Amino acid sequence: SWTMLNIVEDAVEAVRRQVGPNGRAICGLSGGVDSAVAAAMVQRAIGDRLTCVFVDHGLLRKGEAEQVEKDFVAATGVDLHVVDAAERFLSALAGVTDPEEKRKIIGREFIRVFEEAQREIMAEGPVEFLVQGTLYPDVVESGGGTGTANIKSHHNVGGLPEDMKFELVEPLRTLFKDEVRQAGEELGLPPAMVWRQPFPGPGLGIRIVGEVTKERLDILREADAIAREELSRAGLDREIWQCPVVLLADVRSVGVQGDERTYGHPVVLRPVSSEDAMTADWSRVPYDVLARISTRITNEVREVNRVVLDLTSKPPATIEWE
Ligand code: XMP
Repeated sequence: SWTMLNIVEDAVEAVRRQVGPNGRAICGLSGGVDSAVAAAMVQRAIGDRLTCVFVDHGLLRKGEAEQVEKDFVAATGVDLHVVDAAERFLSALAGVTDPEEKRKIIGREFIRVFEEAQREIMAEGPVEFLVQGTLYPDVVESGGGTGTANIKSHHNVGGLPEDMKFELVEPLRTLFKDEVRQAGEELGLPPAMVWRQPFPGPGLGIRIVGEVTKERLDILREADAIAREELSRAGLDREIWQCPVVLLADVRSVGVQGDERTYGHPVVLRPVSSEDAMTADWSRVPYDVLARISTRITNEVREVNRVVLDLTSKPPATIEWE
């Protein structure tokens, strides 16, 4: 729409003024819509003086890393610095089962990897600006102050340490989520990114109950992809807030798949409806959709022999299992 076009043009112009004719900026991409839209706006404003950093921690869902590295780059022409850190995150997570410990490790490794990338980028010349996808509700929640690089650090992998002395560029500061999505469409971003449902920064790392290993991530990625595909096909993407798929990696139960007795893992489907994730209800997904998801997962993912549905509202349960 023309109003959204104006909003985007104004934001791009404001970034151009703030960064000036020679300033350089970096922006961390998470795969989510906020950082993608913020980066696309800044790219429009200053072109290759923006470098985006994508730390692939190996905990994203199927196709999401490719979405950033291929589709997003093709759509925006952004200068992208990719760090494939999957092995590093896996070794750091080896043997860890406590969810808070996992979150700490993922956050810590993320900052270290980001800092290394940033040092490499700054070896080519100084960088004064850090782009963040802070939205209006985040600004309000944090008291409206400026220059706070850590607004969401407790919740987001993108939180950066205080000692990075950057001036913040926050082109989404006046926008609500639905406006950010509209801006993303206006900017021609991949629809899968623009319409992505909420997904935690620590990713699949907190959707495996138990130790995170490469094999378990692969199992969960396949099961999750099937659930997402079937929910989308049924036209439920807008109705459902999000649907975590959780691997109970330390639980096994007996099953029969083909002619064989199996001793496999259950996965949990956690479809919820919500306005803001503070409270949620379990979604009444039609039985035939649930049946297709269950049949496909147990047919296509060898290690999974049971699919169960979470029927709990929030509170008392949270949306994620962890
Ligand atoms: P819970 O599980 O607390 O989740 O009911 C509430 C919402 O927050 C999302 N979530 C996160 N989002 N970084 C994020 O950006 C995180 O570390 C994180 N942990 C949970 C969750 O998916 C749900 O939408």
